[in-house]
Amino acid sequence: MITGATSEIGYELAKLFAKDGYDLVMVARNHDDLQAKANEFKSYGINVITMAKNLFTQEDAYSLYSELKLNGISPKILVNDAGQGVYGKFQDTDVHREVDIINLNIVSVIILTKLFLKDRLPKCSGKILNLASHCQQSTRSLAFGVSRYKGIYSVLVRGHP
Ligand SMILES: NC(=O)c1ccc[n+]([C@@H]2O[C@H](COP(=O)([O-])OP(=O)(O)OC[C@H]3O[C@@H](n4cnc5c(N)ncnc54)[C@H](OP(=O)(O)O)[C@@H]3O)[C@@H](O)[C@H]2O)c1
Repeated sequence: MITGATSEIGYELAKLFAKDGYDLVMVARNHDDLQAKANEFKSYGINVITMAKNLFTQEDAYSLYSELKLNGISPKILVNDAGQGVYGKFQDTDVHREVDIINLNIVSVIILTKLFLKDRLPKCSGKILNLASHCQQSTRSLAFGVSRYKGIYSVLVRGHP
């Protein structure tokens, strides 16, 4: 399962998985983009499910997983790719956009990662790839949204920052 599978890094990762014969669950907001990319990847002879979800909202993160469960689907690999950034000085950027991005870059990643772990631990298999950012280590970066808060990813995977 790849969030943000319709564009740039997520799209290229999805293509690599498709070429290696993995079935895909593709997640993004834009339904038409999802359908177009899914049709492209089906040409590799794999099954593709598209889930149009807005991961700015917790509800969509939870419903994504519950809908998969209802259909008996248990992804073996989770790629948390969907992410956005805000650029500018902290005092100048829009707080509503920042909260949306924190929900996308952090809250949804935590929800999906936890649900994935609960699902896969009893099966003793599974892999997670989180797309972080080199900006997270910068103290001077203007890339507020994507940057410092993505440092939590290292807490998620290593148990310490
Ligand atoms: N590109 C870089 O140089 C770079 C550098 C460091 C880290 N990263 C990280 O790598 C990841 C991918 O970056 P990218 O540049 O490849 O991204 P991108 O081209 O902007 O693509 C973002 C993808 O995420 C989806 N998406 C965006 N907002 C969403 C939302 N609210 N809910 C669900 N899906 C959403 C988009 O589809 P929809 O618009 O249809 O939803 C699209 O498929 C991000 O996490 C980013 O922080 C990128």
